Amino acid sequence: MKTMEKLRALPMQYNLPNYEVAAATHDWVETEKGFSWYETGNVNMAYEAIDRHAETYRKNKVALYYNDGKRKEAYTFNEMKKMTNKAANVLKSSTDLAKGDRMFIFMPRSPELYFSLLGALKMGVIVGPLFEAFMEGAVYDRLSDSDAKVLVTTPELIGRVPLDKLPNLQRVFLVGDDIEESEQILDFNKHLQAASIEFDIEWVDREDGMILHYTSGSTGTPKGVLHVHNAMLQQYQSTQWVLDLRDDDIYWCTADPGWVTGTSYGIFGPWLNGVTMLIVGGRFSPQAWYQAIEDYSVTVWYSAPTAFRMLMGAGSGILENYDLSSLRHVLSVGEPLNPEVIRWGFEELGHRIHDTWWMTETGAHMICNYPSMDIKPGSMGKPLPGVHATIVDDSGNEVPPFTMGNLAIRRGWPAMMRQIWGNPERYESYFLKGEWYVSGDSAYMDDEGYFWFQGRVDDVIMTAGERVGPFEVESKLLEHPDVLEAGVIGKPDPVRGEIIKAFVSLREGVEPSDELIEDIRNFVKKGLSAHAAPREIEFKDKLPKTRSGKIMRRVLKAWELNLPAGDLSTMED
Ligand code: PRX
Repeated sequence: MKTMEKLRALPMQYNLPNYEVAAATHDWVETEKGFSWYETGNVNMAYEAIDRHAETYRKNKVALYYNDGKRKEAYTFNEMKKMTNKAANVLKSSTDLAKGDRMFIFMPRSPELYFSLLGALKMGVIVGPLFEAFMEGAVYDRLSDSDAKVLVTTPELIGRVPLDKLPNLQRVFLVGDDIEESEQILDFNKHLQAASIEFDIEWVDREDGMILHYTSGSTGTPKGVLHVHNAMLQQYQSTQWVLDLRDDDIYWCTADPGWVTGTSYGIFGPWLNGVTMLIVGGRFSPQAWYQAIEDYSVTVWYSAPTAFRMLMGAGSGILENYDLSSLRHVLSVGEPLNPEVIRWGFEELGHRIHDTWWMTETGAHMICNYPSMDIKPGSMGKPLPGVHATIVDDSGNEVPPFTMGNLAIRRGWPAMMRQIWGNPERYESYFLKGEWYVSGDSAYMDDEGYFWFQGRVDDVIMTAGERVGPFEVESKLLEHPDVLEAGVIGKPDPVRGEIIKAFVSLREGVEPSDELIEDIRNFVKKGLSAHAAPREIEFKDKLPKTRSGKIMRRVLKAWELNLPAGDLSTMED
């Protein structure tokens, strides 16, 4: 098909018709008026996202289409209200979870994931969603750090939960068939079936905790980024402006709720706006993905550069077998959107892919390309109206256009993280002069206010859209009995953005071999997760270190890329 034939007729009016006007005038109080609590004072994300719609003409509108190849289900807003009430009743009657307590959900996407997550929110509980690929060490770190009381998981994954090491984990619910119950372990679906469909929602304060996402930095173990119910303001508003969702859209966000995109825009934003959402479970395959767009007539599609590159790699021969003409708006997040991907989107899908920039810590969209605004390919776009983004130098002074510096946001946007779990100093350390949230990305702004991403300031690795802290991987490598020292870097990769490469020096007497490489890789895979396991491992007799003993990742990177290593004055002899 030719590009022009595939280009969709554009709607007459966008949700954000004039970016400049909104950017100059938006006041978040206007957004508050979109919520029932503006009148009633009763706040709860789950009420706004589900129950409120069940009381309107949207009652019998589909909220959730779920399809993983085996289960194909649909739930209206009214059914979602009932199922989430049931889930809340299950939790309430068989645990002593109270407002502010932590519950984790560790399982692949399924309707029960959404029922239990929203059910817990109805109780005022803080939910930590965990990606299914996590292994024991990663699961343990998160549950113990946040002192989780309850876990919802599956029979396939429970083996990765070290129950004996988590004394405060009171109850575990298993979602699956033939569950053998014990004092600690309960069959979620059995109790769900029996539970009442009526539930009195626990009203919360806008500043009460809602969701806890663990994410990686360049140092230390993963940190728990806490978001509060107030995040709904920005999630709701940005869903209108950036995703441009309307009442008749069928929206598909490909992200798992284990990552922030899968909650902010895979649950909250779209349902706050009463939009029908498709959730596709199971593994990635180009055929299954294109089929999903065709079968459900998806109109708005939010994914990531790595996924687009994998579709690109699968070739246009496959694409031609599917009718994707329902698509109206396509968006991307998580990594730089390369020109090749933009070109592919334009030529093969007939769409300009709209880039969006934000982070786990920001809780919602920050810098984006809006449908009504001219796109400059390669730029992340302009700040969300109501958000002040800028570039600052290392002392926190704003710099002129075209000067590279730290991408920073003025403190106080509605969806801003409110805590690093259990670590107030670390939380404060994000804010330069107490005023600027410093993202860790370097960027510049051009003379028309567009932001251009340059790279990470720190050593954080973005692999296939997932954020991996080199320190975590290094720590795990050091636990391997043959490893003496390890340094981990991101190495540029055409499909995944970066891959993880580890430089390892071995203990005395240990001989390097291909089997050892495989063994070390599996060791990290089993201890952390598959996406944290180094794709490349290179043995070195000695690693470059500072005099104080810190591995110099920048030197490793320079070795790898054949670049000058820069200032080596702090390196040991
Ligand atoms: O480096 C930026 C990159 O992803 C980081 C945030 O990762 P995470 O918290 O996992 O959240 C990802 C999804 C919200 C950022 O510091 N990043 C995110 N979006 C973009 C991006 N890099 C370039 N362009 C983007 N659009």
